Amino acid sequence: MYKSYEEYLLTLRNDNRYRILNTRDIQEKHTNFLDFSTNDYLNLSQNSEVIEAAIISARKYGVGATGSRLLSGNLPLYEEFEKIIARDKNTESCLLFSSGFQANISTLSCLLDEKVLRGKAIVFFDKLNHSSLYQAVFLSKAELCRYHHNDVEHLKSLMESYKNDSRPKFIVTETLFGMDGDIAPLKEIAALATKHQAFLYLDEAHATGLFGKNGYGLSTTVQLHNIPHVIMGTLSKAIGSSGGYIASNKTIIDFLINKATGFVYSTAPSPHIIGSASKAWTMVKSLQNERTHLQTLGTILRTKLQEFGFDIGTSATHIVPIIFKEEKICLQIKDALMKREITVSCIRPPTVPHNSSRIRIALTSKHQLQDIERLVNYLREIIQ
Ligand SMILES: Cc1ncc(COP(=O)(O)O)c(C=O)c1O
Repeated sequence: MYKSYEEYLLTLRNDNRYRILNTRDIQEKHTNFLDFSTNDYLNLSQNSEVIEAAIISARKYGVGATGSRLLSGNLPLYEEFEKIIARDKNTESCLLFSSGFQANISTLSCLLDEKVLRGKAIVFFDKLNHSSLYQAVFLSKAELCRYHHNDVEHLKSLMESYKNDSRPKFIVTETLFGMDGDIAPLKEIAALATKHQAFLYLDEAHATGLFGKNGYGLSTTVQLHNIPHVIMGTLSKAIGSSGGYIASNKTIIDFLINKATGFVYSTAPSPHIIGSASKAWTMVKSLQNERTHLQTLGTILRTKLQEFGFDIGTSATHIVPIIFKEEKICLQIKDALMKREITVSCIRPPTVPHNSSRIRIALTSKHQLQDIERLVNYLREIIQ
C-alpha cells in the first residue's frame, strides 16, 4: 500500500527535488546569523505589544475557538477585526479564515461554482499566481486561461478573443508577486475588468502591511467600486501572525459564510492568533518609517546585485530573486551562504517555472545596510 508513495518519493530524490524540514532553532543559536528567508517583513511576529495582545486574548477567550463560527466559535474579537479590515480596505465587509491558503482555495473555488454561476467561468489568470489560487481553479473545474506574467497586452488580447463569449469572466492576480517581488499593473487590469465586465480577484498576501494607503495593500490605490471584486490577504507575512482575510461587498461575504467550505466546516482561528493579528494590523499605519527603510534597502540591494551582473528579474520591492537556469547552482549558493551564517530561500520548479530557479531574498525592516553588504560580498565571493 505504501509502495506507490515510496516510488514517488524516490523519483523526487532522483530529480533532486526531495524536500526536507529544517529546524529554525539551529540557526537562532548563532547570534551572527542573518536571515533573508522570512516573510516577517515588519518584524511584527516578535513585537512585544503584539505578543502581549495574544496573551490578553488567550486569557480572555482561551487558546481555542472551540468550533466553527457558525456553531460555537463566533467571538466578538473576530467581528471587530473584520470591521477594521473592511474599513482599511475600503470594502463593505470582511471574513477571516485560518490561513491564507484556506482563504484562497475556499473563496475562489466557490466564487467559480458552476451551479451558482449557471455556467463554467473563464478565469484569466497570471501564470505566476500562487498555488492556492491554482488549486482553487482546478477544484472548480472552471476554464483556466493563463496570461504571461504581468503582461497586460497578452491579457488584453486573450480577453478580446473571448469578448463574444457570454460566460462569466474572472481576472485573478497577486498584487505583489511573492516569488518575483514585482507589482501587478493594477490600473490597467482594473480597466480591462471594467471593459469586459469581469470579476476581479486580488491576492494581497505580500503587499498587506507594506504598500498602499497607510500600508493596507495596493488595492487601496485603485478605483474598484464599479468592479465586482474580492481582495484576499494574509495575516501570516507582514502582519506576523497567521490567517487570511477576504474583503469584499456584503453579498459576497454572506455568500462565503454560507458556501465556503473552508469557513463553514473549519474551527475558527484561535483567539490569540486573531488578537495578535488585530493588534499588528492597527500598528501597520504607524510603521511608515519601517516601510520607507525597507524600500530604500530594496533599491540598494537590487542595484548592487545588478551591478554584479545578477539576474534579478523584474523585482521592484523588498523581495528580490536572483534567477539561475540551473537548480543545482541555487542549491550550492544556498548551502555556501548557510556556511557563512546567512539564510536565504532556494525556490525551484514547480514553485517557479522551469529554468528560473532562484535564490529568494526577502528583506525585513530589521535588516541594515551592512547586512546587505555582507550578503552581496559573500554572493560575489561564492560565484567567482
Ligand atoms: C500569494 C500568496 N497567497 C496565499 C498564500 C497562502 O498564505 P498562508 O501562508 O497565510 O496560508 C501565500 C503564502 O505563501 C502566498 O504567497
